[in-house]
Parts: sequence; C-alpha cells; structure tokens
Amino acid sequence: AVSQRHAARSVRSVVATGCARWPWWPQHRALGRGGGPVERRRLGRVGAVNEQIERSLVLVKPDGYRRGLSGEVLRRIEAKGYTLVALAVTTPTGEQLATHYAEHEGKPFYEPLVEFMSSGPVTAAVIEGHGCIAGFRALAGATDPTAALPGTIRGDLGRDWGLKVQQNIVHGSDSPESAAREIAIWFPELG
Ligand code: RTP
Ligand code: MG
Repeated sequence: AVSQRHAARSVRSVVATGCARWPWWPQHRALGRGGGPVERRRLGRVGAVNEQIERSLVLVKPDGYRRGLSGEVLRRIEAKGYTLVALAVTTPTGEQLATHYAEHEGKPFYEPLVEFMSSGPVTAAVIEGHGCIAGFRALAGATDPTAALPGTIRGDLGRDWGLKVQQNIVHGSDSPESAAREIAIWFPELG
C-alpha cells in the first residue's frame, strides 16, 4: 500500500514535473531510490514507488564454478524472483580479492581464502529485487556447508572437502554498504 507520506510526495512530484502519466518515475528518481530499469520494468507501476530496490553481489566461487554449479545457483536466484542485472565469468585478481575481503585481512583464514579464490574462474552476478541482500543470504544458507540446512545452496550442494568452511560455493553481500562496495569491484561499469 502506498503510505500517506509517499502519496503526498507523489502528488508533489506530479505537480513539480507535470507528469501525470508516469508519476512514480520522476518521484523514484527524485528520491534517489535504488533499482535499475530492469527491475522497474518488471514491477511496473504498482510497488515500484515505495521501497528501495536493492542490489547484491553474488559470486559462484571457484569450487562452485569448477563443479558446474553456476547455472544451478543462477536458477535458484531467478526462481526466487530476483533479476539478473549483470553477469561475468572471471578469474579474480589479487587486487580485487584484497579489496573484496579487506574486512578479513589478518584473520587466520585470510591467506588460504585469497589463494582459493584466485584458483580459477568465478561467476559474478549482480542481482536485483526488494530485500535481495538478505534474501540471497537465506538462499545461500549458513557459511559452514556441513551445518547449512537442506534446501539452501550450501546445504544442498556443498560439503566439507577437508577444509571446513572455505569451499562453500557462493558469496553474497551482507549489507547495502557491502553490496555497493563489492559491485564497484566486480562491475566498475555499474558504479
Ligand atoms: P561470504 O562472505 O563468502 O558470502 O560468506 P559469509 O559472509 O557467510 O562468511 P564470512 O565470515 O564473510 O567469510 C568469508 C569466507 O571466508 C571463508 N571462511 N573460512 N574459519 C574459516 O576457515 C573461514 N571462515 C570463513 C569462507 O569461504 C567464507 O564464505
Ligand atoms: Mg561475508
């Protein structure tokens, strides 16, 4: 439902822009709301006005890529209803990984993690949809694939290969701030 606050803003924006036919469009832009043209097209008028449309950065890590699981991960993302905005297969550089995993620098698993992540191609994707950051983390499941619940990507497709939690198939941004930072690393053209 459109809140009164938003309805009032919407009316103002119609008045301000004189656009009665697509009032949500200038309002959406004027408020600096997220979401790209792909998701907006899908949603149409209803629902596009109210909420921030999130983006998240997803990586199918080298273990998932090697095992041919990129398609299965992307299938689950699309089946959930999120939109693919950008897609690439790339072997991460040391520089990309140093920025991407800056928060983990100094931890005991940092060096082996960077080595593992450099070991081959990853499938990188930007996904879009309301709540997709938390939504993808729920699809992915717990960090430890042994503990991850069946039904989740890590629970269904992952296991301990002798390295505990390192090879857990996917990465997903954990906050809007991380998503913006990570999207700029893997898809600078979207920045
Ligand atoms: P991700 O960032 O990959 O989406 O996973 P996450 O948030 O669930 O896990 P995080 O704590 O951010 O850790 C990043 C990745 O580092 C590896 N890791 N190894 N104790 C360990 O050996 C350990 N802890 C984490 C995993 O690959 C994890 O996904
Ligand atoms: Mg993380």
